[in-house]
Amino acid sequence: MPALDLAQEELGHLTPEAMSEVAAALQLDPGYVEGVATFYTLFHLQPVGKHRFYVCTNLSCMLRGANEIVEHVKRATGLSEPGEVSKDGLFSYEEVECLGACEYAPVARLDRRYEKDLTPARIDSLVNDRRLPRRYQRAAARAETDAAKPAPARKRAPRTKKKSG
Ligand code: FES
Repeated sequence: MPALDLAQEELGHLTPEAMSEVAAALQLDPGYVEGVATFYTLFHLQPVGKHRFYVCTNLSCMLRGANEIVEHVKRATGLSEPGEVSKDGLFSYEEVECLGACEYAPVARLDRRYEKDLTPARIDSLVNDRRLPRRYQRAAARAETDAAKPAPARKRAPRTKKKSG
């Protein structure tokens, strides 16, 4: 799976040639490698957007608004159905089963990162950040990471001894 993941990362999706190369490199049967690639929804055999939303629509997320999240992802990216690629090539989305983070429902995975307690406003922010030119994207990602960190502890002023007399 890591080899397929690497190939997908490099090419954007798994081509028959890429699966054959993975099979040859790992001395595996090509049919077995293709079986793995077709079994897991995280592998793509067709071109996909550069940024992919995997929106959980399982029970906990459904009860906490997953349908609204899916509809908002579609609106924000201009997509109409799973597997479609946006006109700018930037986005695609899929509805997936439980991502294992039910306590943070509704949840989606985007660019290998889990987005928890999703709201329409958060989706807008994620989509807009990814539409920015690359240099601004790095700054936006840094700001996002910094915002997630706990505030640094305040330093206390050193205690001074009271002078007697
Ligand atoms: S039901 Fe959505 S993460 Fe589990």
